[in-house]
Amino acid sequence: EKFYFLNEVDSTNNYAKKLASEGKPEGTVIVAEEQSAGKGRLSRKWISAKGKGIWTSFILRPNILPNFAAQITLVMAVGMIKALEKNLGVSAKIKWPNDILINDLKVCGILTEMSAEIDRINYVIVGIGLNVNQSNDDFPDEIQDSATSLKICLGKEIKRVQMLQVILEEIEKVYNLYLEKGFSEILDEWKNNSCTLGQEVIVKMPKEIIEGMAIDIDSGGCLIVKDKENIIHKIIAGDVLVRK
Ligand code: BTN
Repeated sequence: EKFYFLNEVDSTNNYAKKLASEGKPEGTVIVAEEQSAGKGRLSRKWISAKGKGIWTSFILRPNILPNFAAQITLVMAVGMIKALEKNLGVSAKIKWPNDILINDLKVCGILTEMSAEIDRINYVIVGIGLNVNQSNDDFPDEIQDSATSLKICLGKEIKRVQMLQVILEEIEKVYNLYLEKGFSEILDEWKNNSCTLGQEVIVKMPKEIIEGMAIDIDSGGCLIVKDKENIIHKIIAGDVLVRK
């Protein structure tokens, strides 16, 4: 059994972790209609209303070193961009590290979690939340100015099953390409679809704020920012605001 369809779950990522620790194989897919405790990055929550979006997680077991695991999130973001383009003709952008935006608003988030030893990965869980059929007032006040859905962008209901199918196909393609050919080709695609690179950004981290120009992404998936004093900062995790 490689496909789990759940009516309700706390978080498909948590469910996937449990299955992974029981030894379920790479390629196992979990989809839920509703999450009661959907998780976002930086320990935020992810609003996952019943039947409105695609809330899904995959188990991956890539044969790569743990310090390259951050690449996986970028690989998945490229897969999502391709899926949106292919299924709906929408051109979405990637905001580092893993937000998918349409018209500057967030339509999709990716949360990657990993279990690893020093020199090998046990498993990687990739969780994807895609807002599909919400209207504006389905979003809570705090995120109404920053969130969107495919329905809001395209002005019509979108079929979730077909969208999910295309997502799984495109992600499988780009993931296999990554395993066979390495990261550099995918990194190029990531850069071509990025709305962060070449922009003035403000990066908020727990202990500091950095302002500067987002000049590159390195091979580990870190964002490289050059500040006013020309000091180069390598950002591993943080919240990026693109200055307009
Ligand atoms: C983010 O942008 O902060 C990441 C959001 C990830 C949300 C998805 S929904 C399916 C999966 N299960 C979770 O609990 N989170 C991810």
